[in-house]
Amino acid sequence: MKSASALALLSFVSVAVAFSEPAGHEFQAPGPDDQRSPCPGLNALANHGYLPRNGQNITIPQLPLLLLTLSASAVGLNFDWGVLLLAAKQGLMTSTDKSSETMMSLEPLVLHDLIEHDASLSRSDYQNGTGDALHFNETIYSVMANSNPGSDYYNTTSTAQVMYQRLQYSIATNPTLINTEKEITGRAGTAALALTSMGNATTGVAPKKFVDILFREERLPFLEGWKPSPVLITLDLVGPLVEAMVAGSNWTATQSCEPIVNGPGNSVDTAA
Ligand code: HEM
Ligand SMILES: *[C@@H]1O[C@H](CO)[C@@H](O)[C@H](O)[C@H]1NC(C)=O
Ligand SMILES: *[C@@H]1O[C@H](CO)[C@@H](O)[C@H](O)[C@H]1NC(C)=O
Ligand SMILES: *[C@@H]1O[C@H](CO)[C@@H](O)[C@H](O)[C@H]1NC(C)=O
Ligand SMILES: *[C@@H]1O[C@H](CO)[C@@H](O)[C@H](O)[C@H]1NC(C)=O
Ligand SMILES: *[C@@H]1O[C@H](CO)[C@@H](O)[C@H](O)[C@H]1NC(C)=O
Ligand SMILES: *[C@@H]1O[C@H](CO)[C@@H](O)[C@H](O)[C@H]1NC(C)=O
Repeated sequence: MKSASALALLSFVSVAVAFSEPAGHEFQAPGPDDQRSPCPGLNALANHGYLPRNGQNITIPQLPLLLLTLSASAVGLNFDWGVLLLAAKQGLMTSTDKSSETMMSLEPLVLHDLIEHDASLSRSDYQNGTGDALHFNETIYSVMANSNPGSDYYNTTSTAQVMYQRLQYSIATNPTLINTEKEITGRAGTAALALTSMGNATTGVAPKKFVDILFREERLPFLEGWKPSPVLITLDLVGPLVEAMVAGSNWTATQSCEPIVNGPGNSVDTAA
């Protein structure tokens, strides 16, 4: 009797706190023929069917449609197109297929030095082809996972410290390290994507639980209570977070690069 009512209470409680995944966008791990990328964000979107689950032949119009208009119905990630424009343009450049040069597939995004860079938060360095820059690596990610001890969130201060430590590790272990302004911009920019998509897009404060699920499982943590940002994630919001992380990581270049102009207002040296 007693235990039956306790059970009833328990199931009531679990119903009361249950969150669900949007219908048609349930998480499903990739199958053997599905492609995934070095990007936990795109992989998660494909794992939820917001991008083709096979990870192939993604058109540029699909990206704003998926990432922007879906946000209106409160699914997907609430990013303004401007934040993703540069990555999308560069993503197209990884295509090698003449007949599909207006599309991108996920695995070719691993092309070293286009978007993929050294000293990532969750992937090994390319190391002249000997390192796995494509798949999640828990040892690499442990620096992030152990950061901001005593708090249940990551923020720009703790993530900048992780960026500093990751670069020191790459300097010590990777003789082919590339570390220019292009890389620090990409590193801080992608870190900002993780914090803003999983947490408060204004402050860059993000629950560890959500960020860890994004990286480790490439899953949007709907079931744990995550919701897409209620505010559109714009360059105006992301810019100061990127600057705070570049400054907080005490970054200096080991090589220099010419400014790269990817289009109006999209020079990579905007974060310097
Ligand atoms: C057009 C859209 C996008 C493209 C082409 C793209 C591509 C990439 C690529 C190639 C990387 C690897 C960089 C590296 O070496 O670490 C990367 C990293 C990353 N991306 Fe994306 N991405 C896109 C959108 C997003 C979105 C919407 C999110 C939101 C969660 C996201 C989150 C991340 C994060 C957190 C990393 C860092 C991974 C790490 O440091 O280990 N990306 N992205
Ligand atoms: C992707 O596009 C290429 C070129 O058009 C085509 O050969 C390939 O079959 C397509 N892949 C899928 C999974 O649709
Ligand atoms: C990179 O690999 C190529 C071929 O595998 C080799 O010839 C070259 O010496 C390597 N470079 C470095 C810096 O290790
Ligand atoms: C993961 O990263 C660690 C630390 O750099 C490395 O020793 C290990 O070989 C990597 N694992 C894989 C599967 O690449
Ligand atoms: C990040 O969190 C730590 C620990 O609570 C705190 O000391 C630091 O000031 C925070 N940084 C920002 C930018 O809020
Ligand atoms: C950056 O340098 C400042 C001043 O030397 C220091 O207080 C801070 O701890 C350093 N940050 C990192 C991540 O090393
Ligand atoms: C984000 O943090 C700011 C400042 O603390 C707060 O005003 C705002 O309501 C927060 N946004 C969300 C969605 O929690």
